[in-house]
Amino acid sequence: MRILSIETSCDETGISIIEASDKTITILGNALASQIDIHAQYGGVFPALAKRAHAEKIVPLLTQALTEAQLLEKIDTPLNTNLEETKLLNDLAFLDQKETDLKAHLVPFLVTYQKPAIDCIAVTTGPGLEPALWVGINTAKALSLVWGIPVIPINHMEGHVLVTLLKNNNETNNIHHAQQYTLQELQFPALALLVSGGHTELVLIEDYGVYKKIGQTQDDAVGEAFDKVARVLGVPYPGGPMVSKLAETFRSSGFAQEITLPRPMLHSGDYNFSYSGIKTAVLYKVRDITEAQQSPLTDIQKQMIACAFEDAAIEVLVKKTLRAIDEYHTQTIIVGGGVAANTYLRSTLAQKVPQTTTVLFPEHWLSTDNSVMIAIAAYLNTTYAKQSNIVDTSNLRADGNLSITEGGFRNN
Ligand code: KG4
Ligand code: ZN
Repeated sequence: MRILSIETSCDETGISIIEASDKTITILGNALASQIDIHAQYGGVFPALAKRAHAEKIVPLLTQALTEAQLLEKIDTPLNTNLEETKLLNDLAFLDQKETDLKAHLVPFLVTYQKPAIDCIAVTTGPGLEPALWVGINTAKALSLVWGIPVIPINHMEGHVLVTLLKNNNETNNIHHAQQYTLQELQFPALALLVSGGHTELVLIEDYGVYKKIGQTQDDAVGEAFDKVARVLGVPYPGGPMVSKLAETFRSSGFAQEITLPRPMLHSGDYNFSYSGIKTAVLYKVRDITEAQQSPLTDIQKQMIACAFEDAAIEVLVKKTLRAIDEYHTQTIIVGGGVAANTYLRSTLAQKVPQTTTVLFPEHWLSTDNSVMIAIAAYLNTTYAKQSNIVDTSNLRADGNLSITEGGFRNN
């Protein structure tokens, strides 16, 4: 089965092509463009700009990924003002109102290239920024109509979960053409700790496609807290990875930690989280220090604060995860989402789980947003999940608040 996948939920535009056969996955093509430079000046993702950048980038990335997969061939006789071209323009008429930029890129692509040897298209339908999600969905819809292949709507968070099952069979981690992976078996029930810029959740996985949320953040997500602390420390967006680096530098410096930050909801007795309090505590701490010394934070003070923050943020995640492992008797823990790239979370969790527990992290390059994860979720859903996920393209829609328990499509 060959799947073309599309991810545009936030600030990364991704197109991948995978070949899936039983437990073997080959990444035939993968193209990803980040919008970090565009949003850095605003300190966060600006939805209208995200939409425009996705619409600009998606067709060049489609060309790039299909070329890498060696699946792109030109049409022998270019379409003229004949029936075929009329049909194509009719098919794409739905883009006329809101996606004129996208259409301007799609038409020349579709009149130049033949339908590639692809079986279906997987696209992220939520959660995320709706204007951004729509670009991916409308691209999927256009390709589906013109090429006559189905679309599988995919939940972004489910992508983060299932991509952790990829086991690298290659010697290097480079994102090269025709990388081969094996899909690990998932033992149910499994537990997923989902940690990203928009989510902090503990989810029980009872079977493929069967998710039960047991806890979630009551306010900010942990990745969002990393990004906000970064801003307070003067680190540019998205600051999560940099805050983590500062913390690491402090840990290895041997200096004594002088700051303790609160661990919100650590003893709440449930699996919910809260991250807005730690962020505010950091803000007050920085204000107190800089007022007392009448000068900005020194480098070592920044590292100390980053470390105190990371210790507090990660301790709550790890302790609640350990408690859930105990209560639900899960032997496999999946850590998914951008914050799964965090080295301290990886080492602490791996060290603290019971010996019989397997912890699955995504490969580093698949931790943050990407489209490979969307293709993997589509394959596992169509192959192992109980219900078919293929929907009529006219019913496809962006769903900003889609929950992992709803899969890629909310029926209401
Ligand atoms: O999953 P993702 O790429 O996008 C969303 O769906 O939100 O996650 C991005 C989030 C950002 O908040 C970013 O700062 C955080 O993941 N992040 C990290 C690290 N790498 C990315 N946070 C802490 N440590 C990291 N190494
Ligand atoms: Zn994500």
